[in-house]
Amino acid sequence: MQHQSGCRGIWLLPLSLFLSSLGVARTGRSLLSCPTGCLCASNILSCTKRGLSNVPQSLPRYTAFLDLSHNNLTHLRAQWTTIHLIHLQSLFLSHNHLHFISTEAFTPVPGLRYLDLSSNHLKTLDESLFSELKNLEVLLLYSNQIVEVDRSAFDDMVNLQKLYLSQNQIARFPVELVKDRSKLPSLTLLDLSSNKLKLLPTADLQDLPAWMKNGLYLHNNSLSCDCEIQKLFTHWQYRQLSSVTDFQEDLYCMYSKKMYSVFNITTLNCSEFKECAFEAYLGESLIISCDTKQQGMTKEWVTPNNEKVLNEVGNGTVKVLQNGSLQFEHIRVEDQGLYTCYAVGEAFNETLSVEVKVHNFTRHGPHDTLNTAYTTLVGCILSVVLVLIYLYLTPCRCWCRAGERPTSHQGDSLSSSMLSTTPNHDPMAGGGGKDSGFDRRVAFLEPTGPGQGQNGKLKPGNTLPVPEGAKGQRKMSDPESVSSVFSDTPIVV
Ligand SMILES: *[C@@H]1O[C@H](CO)[C@@H](O)[C@H](O)[C@H]1NC(C)=O
Ligand SMILES: *[C@@H]1O[C@H](CO)[C@@H](O)[C@H](O)[C@H]1NC(C)=O
Ligand SMILES: *[C@@H]1O[C@H](CO)[C@@H](O)[C@H](O)[C@H]1NC(C)=O
Ligand SMILES: *[C@@H]1O[C@H](CO)[C@@H](O)[C@H](O)[C@H]1NC(C)=O
Ligand SMILES: *[C@@H]1O[C@H](CO)[C@@H](O)[C@H](O)[C@H]1NC(C)=O
Ligand SMILES: *[C@@H]1O[C@H](CO)[C@@H](O)[C@H](O)[C@H]1NC(C)=O
Ligand SMILES: *[C@@H]1O[C@H](CO)[C@@H](O)[C@H](O)[C@H]1NC(C)=O
Ligand SMILES: *[C@@H]1O[C@H](CO)[C@@H](O)[C@H](O)[C@H]1NC(C)=O
Repeated sequence: MQHQSGCRGIWLLPLSLFLSSLGVARTGRSLLSCPTGCLCASNILSCTKRGLSNVPQSLPRYTAFLDLSHNNLTHLRAQWTTIHLIHLQSLFLSHNHLHFISTEAFTPVPGLRYLDLSSNHLKTLDESLFSELKNLEVLLLYSNQIVEVDRSAFDDMVNLQKLYLSQNQIARFPVELVKDRSKLPSLTLLDLSSNKLKLLPTADLQDLPAWMKNGLYLHNNSLSCDCEIQKLFTHWQYRQLSSVTDFQEDLYCMYSKKMYSVFNITTLNCSEFKECAFEAYLGESLIISCDTKQQGMTKEWVTPNNEKVLNEVGNGTVKVLQNGSLQFEHIRVEDQGLYTCYAVGEAFNETLSVEVKVHNFTRHGPHDTLNTAYTTLVGCILSVVLVLIYLYLTPCRCWCRAGERPTSHQGDSLSSSMLSTTPNHDPMAGGGGKDSGFDRRVAFLEPTGPGQGQNGKLKPGNTLPVPEGAKGQRKMSDPESVSSVFSDTPIVV
């Protein structure tokens, strides 16, 4: 018995030795699979500050986090990794000397959600460079030398939420990134601060939903001062949008080489900005959105009488739509007043008040009231037209003076009537001749194309192809008087 057990003991000893040597072999193998110069912790590879001028070869297939920051990489070629790193979630490449990225560089890493390319030497972003990164949520490109954003560099990045482009040399606002919501449907943050932006597409920016503007950072650019910019940012400030409230001091613009706060451009004598009321005429329908700073909030509307608005039409004419907008059908004068939207979100709650004004007559009825908000809107459209004149009139001036165009053609007539309609009952109507004022009008309307989208705003019955010249002249020189000329053209806000 004893002998037998002793025998067993002798046999056990080499077995345990064998097992332990196997263990050593295992650790040895996993050490080998960690590329030289990197620290490996399960699926994390840290290869930072190693002076690497190439991406280490044979990266493990299971890598989820790869940190190559603070190295000496200059190129990211298509073959930077020999195998597809389908589990890679985060790739850190900041503080290198990258100036070239192959258009196929991201093919092996389709699952990437976070990509840091900040503090490199990138100058251009090629067409569709990031388009294969369908899962990417955050893209850091700040502190590079990017001069222009290719219109399609970020195409089809359906999950991209945050795009940081600050501290580059971008001079043109990439309006397509925010305007066409189908391109980057999830984008909520676009940082364009500290670039070389001079002009902003103010009208497009104003139309964006508040949750988009809330994350649109534009500070520390040398914007050129104009009243539109002041109006835009004053409204954002009124709405307490983070992009403005967090960087008030850095929001400035330049006018004759002097710096002004965008909220207070004293030299330009801009008229004071007022928040507009929503206006409607008797019997019309009106939809007002609860324009919150966050997406996916639960919204509730309360009438001026402190009654909750229901999802279906109750006693009144108002109801709340699926998307949280307030809808009036056949609005009545009694419906006017201050409506409040209470929005409840995960991070914070919001309260929004909207004033609704209802004229006590239908759209085609008598026009006797002139509302300030209304005039402001007309003035706004007018200034767009003035910009168009400025941009397009100069080259065609001679041609215009020659008077080769006695009547405006079909395409112009709709938009021109919107801009220069004289009401039928106006005593001055019909008295004008074809003088220089008229010629000018035709000239500056030339660039308005079908894309202007203004047709819906005009009153069809008021189309006068040839308005009198005197008013055309006033329109050119003095926005204030122009507003009153336009006062009879109903425009829906
Ligand atoms: C980085 O690479 C460049 C050229 O490839 C080389 O001249 C330089 O010495 C490298 N720097 C370091 C810190 O390795
Ligand atoms: C403003 O932008 C310039 C470059 O355009 C940059 O050098 C500077 O650091 C920025 N300032 C701030 C406060 O971000
Ligand atoms: C606007 O700027 C002027 C000086 O440029 C200053 O005197 C005035 O107080 C400012 N107003 C506001 C409302 O900040
Ligand atoms: C602003 O108003 C002042 C005085 O009213 C005038 O001297 C100045 O030319 C105006 N500036 C502009 C840009 O109209
Ligand atoms: C609306 O109808 C409810 C009952 O259906 C009634 O209690 C309420 O007073 C009505 N409100 C108004 C403003 O008529
Ligand atoms: C809400 O829905 C209505 C009707 O379906 C639509 O007209 C309106 O534009 C929508 N508003 C928003 C903010 O999506
Ligand atoms: C938002 O309002 C709801 C109910 O009105 C409340 O329960 C919730 O605590 C509020 N959330 C925040 C972040 O204030
Ligand atoms: C609207 O106008 C009509 C006459 O045109 C008048 O009888 C009515 O009282 C007015 N309603 C309001 C609310 O002012």
